[in-house]
Formats: sequence, structure tokens, C-alpha cells
Amino acid sequence: MIKPLRLNKKIKSFDKKIIIDGDKSLSIRWALLASQANGKSRAYKLLKSEDVMSTLDCLKKLGVQIKLKKDYCEINGKGLNSYNYKNNLILNAGNSGTLGRLLLGLLVHSKKKIKLIGDKSLSKRDFSRVTGPLEKFGARFSYKTKNKLPLSILGTETPTPINYTENRGSAQCKSSIMLAALNTSGETFIKAKKSRNHTELLFKYLNIPIKIKKTKKFDYIKTKGKKEFRSFNYKIPSDISSSAFFIVLTALSKNSKLIIQNVNINSSRTGILKILKMMGVKIILKNKKNYKGEKVADILVKSANNLKAINCPQHLNSSAIDEFLIIFLIAAKCKGISYFKDLSELNQKESPRLNWGSKILHLMGIKNDLTNGSIKIYGNPELKIKNLIKIKGYLKDHRVFMMSAIAALTFGGKWEIHDPDSIKTSFPSFLKIIKKLNEKKI
Ligand code: S3P
Repeated sequence: MIKPLRLNKKIKSFDKKIIIDGDKSLSIRWALLASQANGKSRAYKLLKSEDVMSTLDCLKKLGVQIKLKKDYCEINGKGLNSYNYKNNLILNAGNSGTLGRLLLGLLVHSKKKIKLIGDKSLSKRDFSRVTGPLEKFGARFSYKTKNKLPLSILGTETPTPINYTENRGSAQCKSSIMLAALNTSGETFIKAKKSRNHTELLFKYLNIPIKIKKTKKFDYIKTKGKKEFRSFNYKIPSDISSSAFFIVLTALSKNSKLIIQNVNINSSRTGILKILKMMGVKIILKNKKNYKGEKVADILVKSANNLKAINCPQHLNSSAIDEFLIIFLIAAKCKGISYFKDLSELNQKESPRLNWGSKILHLMGIKNDLTNGSIKIYGNPELKIKNLIKIKGYLKDHRVFMMSAIAALTFGGKWEIHDPDSIKTSFPSFLKIIKKLNEKKI
């Protein structure tokens, strides 16, 4: 077993410019769509993490030609419904809910039975949120344990378009349905509670027929299948969910300043920026650009002095869904009580993440009340951690690990954080960047 990370010092002040790893949602979506395009697509700055490598491995098993070079990844797509594989193929989605759920969408047309497996964490997660709608397209599923991996899918020759209401605000579910719709003759209609919209933006960029009507709470999406699309090159911007750890690290460190370059600032992902600004963190967006429908910018963040507790507006939950653990650390440092409501979806992630957030805050000595998916955090700007904090026993969850590491580097105290390997799923250079920030030279 790999050794836990031991930390016992706060990070030194820093003033640096960094580039971080590529966006995970976009990396996985690029690979899946490139595998159904016509011709060779290249991605530059593709995230080279376990979740993305699992995506490439699954596609290779489905007969897709892929070259992975140092500077780019090339996928040779042969068009819609072009996968070529043997019966009873086994695909392993590893730790990735996004891969497992989106890929099933592309398999509603599979003529041969495919078994989908995943690691211990993924095998505990609910797949009914995608198998439900995918059954309506005509796919059939069988399980050992209902709605959990491992499961088998057998597609249909003639998937039929569907009408579906997606009520959870799950981008994975919405995207799985959109990818399934690619292979149907006719129009699929989704009423989707707001969630990240990368799939929609890629459909638009690729001229896949799509119409979207937006209201405050829901997006009404219409998309038409059987439209072949061209191959496409893509330079993946940096991941705001990974940047979030460094934004909070800077805000909670003394006399520090950080610029994170070329980050995806799609408004369906920037809840963290809005919430932290409300809490008094200084964040400035520079060099704003549009890239193939996505917005990117450099993020400038400085140490924060007067942090304010927040009653977090619920409409920001979906655009900050992966960032709450790290936002809780800002709440821990505020004077006053912060309140975050309706976050039970967090317990459906790689580990029961809301419970872990609460547990870590308790271990740090931060009082918090967790009731029915909502959490009240009693901030303490004077907190001094004296006891040894051991974080272990969580299922492979990169964000639990990274939250703990940032807490150790900003609140101090002695920490032993298990499973450093978990960062490999989303942010392999996390620890290297911390090391770089801790070097003396500016
Ligand atoms: C993702 C969607 C979100 C998010 C996950 C990535 C995606 O999950 O938590 O990390 O790329 O579509 P849900 O769709 O379950 O909310």
C-alpha cells in the first residue's frame, strides 16, 4: 500500500503563475465524441489522468484506433455507430462515473452484449439514473445487484428517440441521453434541471442538430440523431474544479497571490467563483476568451483578510457541485455561521462526500451540523489544530484527499492523509504544483 501523505507545516507565502491539468469533463467528452466523428481528431492538453485513460482504454476495446503522444492524442473516428468488438466484451470505467454513464449512452445501439465494470467506489454508485432513460431508448440491462456495476447492456438495432425529464441536475445523466440520441432516427427531447452544459456546446460546435430553450431552473433540449459529424481538434482548457483547490489555498494563505492560466470558466461551472467572492475572496478574471463555444480566462486570486460567512444561494449548487468540500474550508475560517442547503447529491459522488466534509471539519475542531443534506458550519478564524488528524477509510475520492491536503497547508497541525494515489483520477500534478509553490524562488 502506498504511504499516506504526512503534512505538518503551513505553506509559505507565494506569488506565482501556474498552468494546471486539463478539464476532466471536456477531456472525456472530446474522446467519446471523437470516437463517433468521421476522421482523425486531435486533442491537445488532454488530461492524462486515470479517468481519461480508462476512457481511451474502453474506446480501444470498442475497436477505435487511438494514438497517445506526448503532446496530443489522436482518435480515428469512423462515424456514428462504428464500434467493432466481440460478444461479451468487458469495459472497465475504473473510478469514473462520467465515463461509465456517458459511455452507456453511446452503447444503446450495441448489437452484442457488453459488461461494464468499475472500481470499488464506482460499483457502489447508482446507475439507475442512466439505465432508466436508456431503457426507454430500447437498451436492456442486467445486473448482479440492481442498478449497480457490474452490469451488462444489450442495445437495440433501432433505438427510438425519447422524451425525458432529468430532475436531479445531473450532467452525466443529461449527456448520456444526448449521446444515446445521436444514434436514433428522430428527435429526443430532454427537460433538464440546470447542470454543466459542455455536451450541448460541443453538439453546437459540431453542427449536430440541437435546440435549447433556457428557463431559470430548466433547459429544454431538442436534439436529432443520425447526423454524421466531422472530426475536430480541441485544445482542452484547464479544469476549474482542480483550480478550485489552488484558489482556496491562496485565499487562506498569508501574503500570497496566484495566477492560474487558461481555465475553463463556463458559467455552468463557476459557482465557486461567485460563492467565494460573496465570502470576501478577491478573484479577478483576466484575458477572457471564447474557445469553440467555451469561455476561458486566467484567474487571479489573492490572500483574503475579511472572510464573511454565507447563506449559500441554492441556485448556485449545480455550478459548484464538485467544489463544496473546498468551499467548506473557507467557511471554516470565517467569523460566523455559514449555511449550505440541499447538497445530498454530494453523497452520490466517489465517496459519501458531504458526510466526509462534515467529518473532516469535526476532526479539525470546526463545529458543524449536518441534517438532511444541508450543513451549517460554525467558522473559527482563530482555529489552532493541536491533535494529529488522520484521514483514512474513504473510498477512492480525489476531492476528499485534496481538501484534506489544502486544510493541512492552510490551517496547520499534523496530518496523515491516506490514499494520495486518488489524485491520479483527476489531477495527477496536484502535489507537484504544491511543491512548486512552496519553493522559495518566485
Ligand atoms: C460531471 C458531472 C457531475 C460532476 C462530475 C462530472 C460531468 O456529476 O460531479 O464530477 O462531467 O458530466 P453529476 O452529473 O452526477 O452531477
